[in-house]
Amino acid sequence: MLAGAVALAGFSVTAPARAASRASDRIEALLARMTIEEKAGQLSCFADMIRPPIGDINPQVNIRNAQTLLAETRAGRIGTLMNGLGTQGALDAQKAAVEGSRLKIPLLFAADVIHGFRTVFPIPLAESGSFDPHLCERTARAAASEASASGLHWTFAPMVDVARDQRWGRVAEGAGEDVYLGQVLAEARVRGFQGKDLKAEDSMLATPKHFAAYGAVTAGLDYNAVELSEATLREVHLPPFQAAFAAGALTTMSAFNDINGVPSTGNKRLMTDILRGEWGFKGVVISDYTADQELVAHGFAADDRDAARLAILAGVDISMQSGLYLRFLPELTASGEVPMAVVDASVRRVLALKEALGLFDNPYRSINAKVEAMRTATPALKQLSREAGGRSIVLLRNEGGILPLPRAGQRLALIGPFAEDRDNVVGPWAFFGDKSLNVDLATGLRAAMTDPASLIVERGCEVETTLAGGFERAVAAAQAADVVLLAIGESQDMTGEAKSRTDIRIPPVQQRLAEAIAATGKPVVVLLRHGRAIALEGVVRDARAILATWFLGSEMGNAVADVLFGAVNPSARLPVSFPLESGQEPFFYNGRTTGRPAPVDPNAQEYKARWRSIRNEALYPFGFGLGYTTFALSDLKLSTPQLAWGDTLHIAARLTNTGAVQGEHVVQLYIRDRVASRTRPARELKGFQRVSLAPGASREVKFELKREHLMFVGEGDRWVVESGLFDVWVANSSVDGLAGSFELLKA
Ligand code: BGC
Repeated sequence: MLAGAVALAGFSVTAPARAASRASDRIEALLARMTIEEKAGQLSCFADMIRPPIGDINPQVNIRNAQTLLAETRAGRIGTLMNGLGTQGALDAQKAAVEGSRLKIPLLFAADVIHGFRTVFPIPLAESGSFDPHLCERTARAAASEASASGLHWTFAPMVDVARDQRWGRVAEGAGEDVYLGQVLAEARVRGFQGKDLKAEDSMLATPKHFAAYGAVTAGLDYNAVELSEATLREVHLPPFQAAFAAGALTTMSAFNDINGVPSTGNKRLMTDILRGEWGFKGVVISDYTADQELVAHGFAADDRDAARLAILAGVDISMQSGLYLRFLPELTASGEVPMAVVDASVRRVLALKEALGLFDNPYRSINAKVEAMRTATPALKQLSREAGGRSIVLLRNEGGILPLPRAGQRLALIGPFAEDRDNVVGPWAFFGDKSLNVDLATGLRAAMTDPASLIVERGCEVETTLAGGFERAVAAAQAADVVLLAIGESQDMTGEAKSRTDIRIPPVQQRLAEAIAATGKPVVVLLRHGRAIALEGVVRDARAILATWFLGSEMGNAVADVLFGAVNPSARLPVSFPLESGQEPFFYNGRTTGRPAPVDPNAQEYKARWRSIRNEALYPFGFGLGYTTFALSDLKLSTPQLAWGDTLHIAARLTNTGAVQGEHVVQLYIRDRVASRTRPARELKGFQRVSLAPGASREVKFELKREHLMFVGEGDRWVVESGLFDVWVANSSVDGLAGSFELLKA
């Protein structure tokens, strides 16, 4: 089996294990009694203003106040409330549904619990760099435990959109640019959120989103049109969804974007033919926030009524926030434009979700103030956040082994807008986070230093603007120090939804600050703050050491200190390629080879696939990361040079810790199909393993490949596999490794 193996690729037809194939007697009995208004209510979700969250999560569109929501709940006109916080409000709302409404159907409480709740874990992109499905499962489990204690049943996570363009702000929310890593982590996160038993009070429904291809928006501009071949849709963007469904996810969310001119939320082929027809998905599709109504702005629906009709006929069960189903389903069914059977099928699915959670028998599950207090911001949650933070940091550069730093005997200057900042440690999509938990860098470092007074802190500048006298004070601090720690990068409102950037460099004022600091000649360690790959340049690119520290969550300062001072040996790897320049985007390691690949010889590069000023390669490639020890791969062995059609290829290589300290390495398996009837990626990740070794120790690392791992979408947009030659690498990253090859023999 491949490491962390999942139901691979998109060719398998997987039916979600726990979905009900037919509704229970209880559901059928309810359905028989429901008016069309009550049915439309079950298919409607609204922002929870009975217990509003802190901060704006979404545009204030069609907001209903608390009294209206309670009244509509009693009238049976609401099935789901979203993004509310706290048990007291949950109790009031659930009482209105269970004791106040005619049919007593309990409410579902949903929320964007993306990377933690009150206690925040690293942004999903950072955590994906851990290449550690078990860690992702544990943080999802912990987030579900904390959020469900606040009366929540359903999270709109994980985001499983493959994101190949770093200009797109939502790269931060997913697993990065790779399909296989995306599959493995999607599955792990679903398992974590849902737990072993959905009826357990600490389980939450997971929602792999956004269906589909939202990560492929043109030019990385959020919400933009998507132009995509059927093959790329099926090979790249759909497999993580299938993995999530195979792991038991019972819901998905329709994306804002169109694909080749058909908006996802009105895309019957996607929502019904592929999702339910081909894959056998039995769960619920919820629209993204007002995405049904947006069919009008797309120019796909004539008006709101038409939008409601198109969305429900396409297969969208629940309308989020627009209220269109409530307004129009009664007349659309009366006129016959929407068959009642279509509405009934959606209602059955929504009621089946409520049943799967045990809400009919236990409507007040997860609503207990004592449990809420006990399970919120516990020491164990904080400890897990710190551990996950440390395991998400990527050491990109460490010239002369300047890191780890000694805890004593050096004066350190911590300089930059993020030095003492507590507002930018959790990153986007952490609206529920308890800010009082946030540990800034200065606090984390001081706590780890023998003499905290030997840390000097200077802001230097703001994120995008200067600060009066800031540069002067920062330079003076650098001059007084032995080592400078430069905390620079993006603020958290530069990443996330609607935060696309045209230029993925560090803001110019911070780059100038770095230059002023570098001019002092003091060694500089860059502590990069970011929600995407960054195009590093100049003195920042050339600093003595660079740590990709992303947004690590509540415990950020402690997690960074753990790595800086060597309590934790960094072992994360890049889940996205760091390009040489912004203009290379979209840049990803697994692009297809051209007819004119750039040769290694720099003098022979005319009329080749390169940029005028640079080769089209990464500064730091996908899969890359250093640690405080070194590893060597050797002795690649393939069980056979010729793989018979139905056989398994066994691949092994020896990994040795050649350094002086214990460490963990991520050994990666890549393939390339040499000749095929479709041009194929230069490389494709097919497996990885985390291996921990003591200094001097070595171990054989084993992988397996079968015919089904060599498939692609070929002629007629079907999954095929073709005999012939394949390259294989057992590697440290997507650009190196021990190379071998084998031939897949004909059937
Ligand atoms: C986002 C979704 C999110 C929803 C509800 C939308 O703007 O695209 O990812 O789940 O809001 O908050």
